[in-house]
Amino acid sequence: MGLLIRNIRCLVQTEDIPQIKVCGQKMSKLGNIEDAFLYIENDVISDFGAMKDLDMSGLGVKSQPLRILDASGRFVFPSFCDPHTHLVYSGSRELEYTGKIRGLSYEEIAKRGGGILNSAKRLHETSENDLFHQSMIRINEIITLGTGAVEIKSGYGLTLNDEIKMLRVVKRIKESCPLEVKATFLGAHAVPEKYKQNREEYVDLIINEMIPAVTSEELADFIDVFCDRGFFTVDDTERILMTGLKYGLTPKIHANELDYSGGVQVGVKYNALSVDHLERTGDEEIDVLIGSETMPTLLPGSAFFLGLPDPPARKMINAGLPVAMASDYNPGSSPSGNMKLVMSLGCIRLRMLPEEVINAVTINSAYAMNLSETHGSIARGKVANVFITKEIPSYEFMPYAYGSNLIDTVILKGKVIDIDPPTPPASRDRL
Ligand code: NIG
Ligand code: FE
Repeated sequence: MGLLIRNIRCLVQTEDIPQIKVCGQKMSKLGNIEDAFLYIENDVISDFGAMKDLDMSGLGVKSQPLRILDASGRFVFPSFCDPHTHLVYSGSRELEYTGKIRGLSYEEIAKRGGGILNSAKRLHETSENDLFHQSMIRINEIITLGTGAVEIKSGYGLTLNDEIKMLRVVKRIKESCPLEVKATFLGAHAVPEKYKQNREEYVDLIINEMIPAVTSEELADFIDVFCDRGFFTVDDTERILMTGLKYGLTPKIHANELDYSGGVQVGVKYNALSVDHLERTGDEEIDVLIGSETMPTLLPGSAFFLGLPDPPARKMINAGLPVAMASDYNPGSSPSGNMKLVMSLGCIRLRMLPEEVINAVTINSAYAMNLSETHGSIARGKVANVFITKEIPSYEFMPYAYGSNLIDTVILKGKVIDIDPPTPPASRDRL
């Protein structure tokens, strides 16, 4: 099947020579083509260019029938890549949200049995099937919002059986939706009540039982640790990462959200694919990241939602670092998987330019989930994950019009996706 999109007002983020990530000053550049065409052959981008160069006979239209879409007045973007979510969870936590409005901090809520442990309790009481259906509502929602690849973490299980339950749900999602899905084992997301006085015993359980079980079923690509004040220490993180690496899991770290935790340093030491959050990032963390292969991944939705200080994105980019952004979609710190809103927050809160936020949610975020060779830009041979906007005046309008849904047509793996409005979750929050 061939799919030709023609008369595109502007084709955004094209690459003739694909790069795996974009750093520093280069983040303010985009390879855009005005009045363009995009030709997709089956599930792959086959060709693109200016309309004046479109030669139907030279396109190499191998397969018939050929479907043609007209994108006059509209922009085509590569789909968003969202490299940090916790979107497999049960229920919601809007009562904690009210607590936060009344003045409780994230850590105070966690100490009162709310937070991650609250979601773990809910998840324990939810069947695998129900969990899958609740999560698929969120999957369908992010598809309509323009996401084409997503990373999903475990970490609301916190027992062997429940962590496996979560990761089996991720596997089922992978098999039943057109998104590219990567799975991360995050057993070290919080210390369960039972191990409160003996955290190291829980770390032992992760190392001796959970990692071997998760990897024997091939349920995860990556391993993550919440290395922060009140959660897991640098020593715990090292022990877990060393075992994860032994079992073939690449590290990705939750680092420096609540404190200067040493999470960035330990992540870089173990060649983590990404270190995420980074609300508390100073010169030392930036120096460590320079020259490393680790992608700093910012989650402006959770900093916004929790009222945390914003990570120093400008300082990072000015120092020559790449920056990626993700939604952190989860019930406690960021109940939204809207990557267009993440772009707006990147511009408004982190003072990033529209070109920089586009790079941060496409090519650099693809890198942060090990997908930048196949996703994250319009390049020949890459997977045909793109969206067509409604009529808009410029690409800057995307982050500028922060509350408008500007996505008209979603194409994943070369197929036009039928986007139905998502069904709202049924049950009310309880504490
Ligand atoms: O990335 N910081 C740790 N984990 C999540 C929040 C999870 C939750 O509150 O349920 C995050 O923000
Ligand atoms: Fe997170």
